[in-house]
Amino acid sequence: MNLAVENRRVLSGMRPTGKLHLGHYHGVLKNWLKLQHEYDCAFFVADWHALTTEYENTGIIKESVWEMVIDWLAAGINPGSAKLFIQSQVPEHAELHLLLSMITPLGWLERVPTYKDQQLKLKEKDLATYGFLGYPLLQSADILIYRATGVPVGEDQVVHVELTREVARRFNHLYGREAGFEEKAEAAVKKMGKKGAKLYATLRKAYQEQGDHEALAKAQALLGEQQNITLGDRERLLGYLEGGGKIILPEPQALLTPASKMPGLDGQKMSKSYGNTITLREVPEEVERKLRTMPTDTQRVRRTDPGDPDLCPVWQLHQVYSSDEVKGWAREGCTTAAIGCLDCKGPVIDAVQAELAPIRERAEEFTAQPQLVRNILSEGGERAREVARETLSEVRQAMGLSYS
Ligand code: TRP
Ligand code: SF4
Repeated sequence: MNLAVENRRVLSGMRPTGKLHLGHYHGVLKNWLKLQHEYDCAFFVADWHALTTEYENTGIIKESVWEMVIDWLAAGINPGSAKLFIQSQVPEHAELHLLLSMITPLGWLERVPTYKDQQLKLKEKDLATYGFLGYPLLQSADILIYRATGVPVGEDQVVHVELTREVARRFNHLYGREAGFEEKAEAAVKKMGKKGAKLYATLRKAYQEQGDHEALAKAQALLGEQQNITLGDRERLLGYLEGGGKIILPEPQALLTPASKMPGLDGQKMSKSYGNTITLREVPEEVERKLRTMPTDTQRVRRTDPGDPDLCPVWQLHQVYSSDEVKGWAREGCTTAAIGCLDCKGPVIDAVQAELAPIRERAEEFTAQPQLVRNILSEGGERAREVARETLSEVRQAMGLSYS
């Protein structure tokens, strides 16, 4: 393992929402499979996050936790390389969430777009709760307690990683300074002259309080122009701009998961809410039935009518599963009516069956050994807690909360 790998910690979570399907496999799990060989990875079940929307019906969560983890394991996530755990079994996440809540302005949470979006989307639920507003901050605590450097997430979650960076920056600014640093920095500011000092202070404030990156760049340029300050002072003031001093909670990077190209049975994105999924443990007969009955180009009414693959959801599945050769055969056969739609679906059905067979088999093995799954999660939880406790103890100390 090289240094870069050891230094890079990757963390991601998934809310327990039931059995996973091919959309999750192609969109998220295949990415995790790759990352687990490249980085120090931890993947966890975000059961507290699920509670923010399912607080009236918590039974769903418990069931889904086991099913979801079995799906992870069946897909090839290896508990020997990646730590797997359940969020609520690492209560340190909750303490950090509480401590971070003290320094997080309400406006930062209210302006996270998922807050209003989800309230509108899940109208039947009352999401005007304290917990739901804090959803992204809980996610920040998940990430920061682990001092993750990379967070694989989909497009919609990038704003949550952005918030995490702002919270970390604010934390480090408030609690990460070393003795005497601020005095020295303030003395250096004075050396810039009245006008320069005032401009520096304004820009610094705009960056630290509003995350204004333009202000940061301007302040850095301003320091570059100064004639009256020493090199040491310049470095001090550069650090002071961004918080300076010690970094207790490093800022993570979002590792954007490439958008899943997995189409559902109707050509829309595969999603439980569209009812167009094939689950990872679908029995072969069901896989066959679902694919045989899936719609094709609606213009192709009779076998003798030529079709247009570009108007057909089956063609999209060929993009995921078929070689160029098979795709050539399908397009040619479709547009000339040389093959029927069932012929065309044949290679796709075979490919999906081949993909799912080993997953289904491993899922059966894990289902038959619930104790093994429990052990994997509690062991992963213990390993995660070690890291979490260490971070938390530094956080408490920095905030003046260590009484021993
Ligand atoms: N909010 C994420 C989602 O809905 C799940 C999640 C919770 C998460 N905590 C996390 C993802 C920390 C990455 C890191 O998908
Ligand atoms: Fe779709 Fe294939 Fe039928 Fe053409 S032959 S309409 S691509 S299923």
